[in-house]
Amino acid sequence: MVSSAPFNVLRVAMMVVLFVGAFTVMFLMYFKSLPSSPCHPPPSHWARQSQHSQPQPDAPAVSPEVTGANKSVVLLWFWPGDKQFPLSDCRRLFNIDNCRLTDDRSEYSKARGVVIHHSAISDDLSNIPKTRPRFQRWIWLNMDSPSRTRWIEGLKSLFNLTLTYRKDSDIHVRWKVAARRPTDSPFQFPQKKRTVCWLLDTNELESNKSYLFFKELAKHIKVDLLQKSSDQLKGDGYFSVVGSCKFYLSFESSVHTDYITETFTGPLAAGTVPVVWGPPRRNYEKFAPGTSFIHTEDFPDAAALAKFLQNLDSDLVAYMKYFEWWKFYTLQRPFRDERYEYALAICQACRYVGQKKEYRVVKDLYKWFLE
Ligand SMILES: *[C@@H]1O[C@H](CO)[C@@H](O)[C@H](O)[C@H]1NC(C)=O
Ligand SMILES: *[C@@H]1O[C@H](CO)[C@@H](O)[C@H](O)[C@H]1NC(C)=O
Ligand SMILES: *[C@@H]1O[C@H](CO)[C@@H](O)[C@H](O)[C@H]1NC(C)=O
Repeated sequence: MVSSAPFNVLRVAMMVVLFVGAFTVMFLMYFKSLPSSPCHPPPSHWARQSQHSQPQPDAPAVSPEVTGANKSVVLLWFWPGDKQFPLSDCRRLFNIDNCRLTDDRSEYSKARGVVIHHSAISDDLSNIPKTRPRFQRWIWLNMDSPSRTRWIEGLKSLFNLTLTYRKDSDIHVRWKVAARRPTDSPFQFPQKKRTVCWLLDTNELESNKSYLFFKELAKHIKVDLLQKSSDQLKGDGYFSVVGSCKFYLSFESSVHTDYITETFTGPLAAGTVPVVWGPPRRNYEKFAPGTSFIHTEDFPDAAALAKFLQNLDSDLVAYMKYFEWWKFYTLQRPFRDERYEYALAICQACRYVGQKKEYRVVKDLYKWFLE
């Protein structure tokens, strides 16, 4: 059977109509999502820059603020958890030097960015500023998971930038596995003294499913429980103790996309093999090589996982495969001094404000974060 010509013509015509329609919709979507900058008067420094310098078409634009005393000021409105560190440390720790951080609220009116920690905001919003200069961007800092994030009425579209653990934040905060450079110190395989370890902190186990899983696992394999408060685990001692375990149970307190915390990055950096409980494997693989950890979801039950760990424990060649990624990548140790818990987030906010100037409004903060 040969299909009739008129039918083919009709089909081609339909395809053209569909294609043009889809293209129009996509164009409109793109057009509507363009930043709204033309609607706002540009910040004063833009005008200054165009008067005084005429950048070459391809030359990177050098903001006058980057030089000398005129760096973008970023104001830290609250100290998250009252964990204070010297703000000048962003330069020493992360080589960030294109902005100036302050916690002095009298500099509010000239601040280009204001970092506001979610959990410190009062329910009636009375402890955050009422008005803001046009050029100023408010940055929503929240490192908690959605299950621990309190809903505060009125924050829906108050912010310009998001600063969270989520990969789709404007400013994404995370210790990352990075490509190894020749200057990076080589990986030192830590001496192993224990098989499976867990740093117990039951208060944090909101999703007790992981605790039940642990109890089941412990029936089949010995698990050394490390006490969070023990002196051995203070400061950098943490890395030698955790590194001395062949496997470490990196169980997150609740399961959310991208919510992969120091429970994972700490042990990974310490040189153990994390056994993870949290978002799916493919989510972990966005942040670390798939061969660097063991995922509980890869096993039908705790007994099967225990069997697998026992086999690896007695097969050094197979076990060492979990460390091959160190040849190509490296991971800096997260800070152990808790004053620095938010340093990476705060410093990154500063760098971002120093670098990028565009206007933006987060349309519906909770819809994005909580749903
Ligand atoms: C910084 O800006 C002020 C005015 O905005 C100007 O008077 C001063 O010379 C600038 N300083 C530097 C070091 O660029
Ligand atoms: C989770 O575990 C804690 C301590 O083991 C317990 O007090 C709490 O009731 C548990 N919560 C749920 C939802 O099972
Ligand atoms: C920041 O967000 C506010 C509130 O949504 C908006 O009015 C303001 O224009 C935004 N500012 C910038 C610099 O993007």
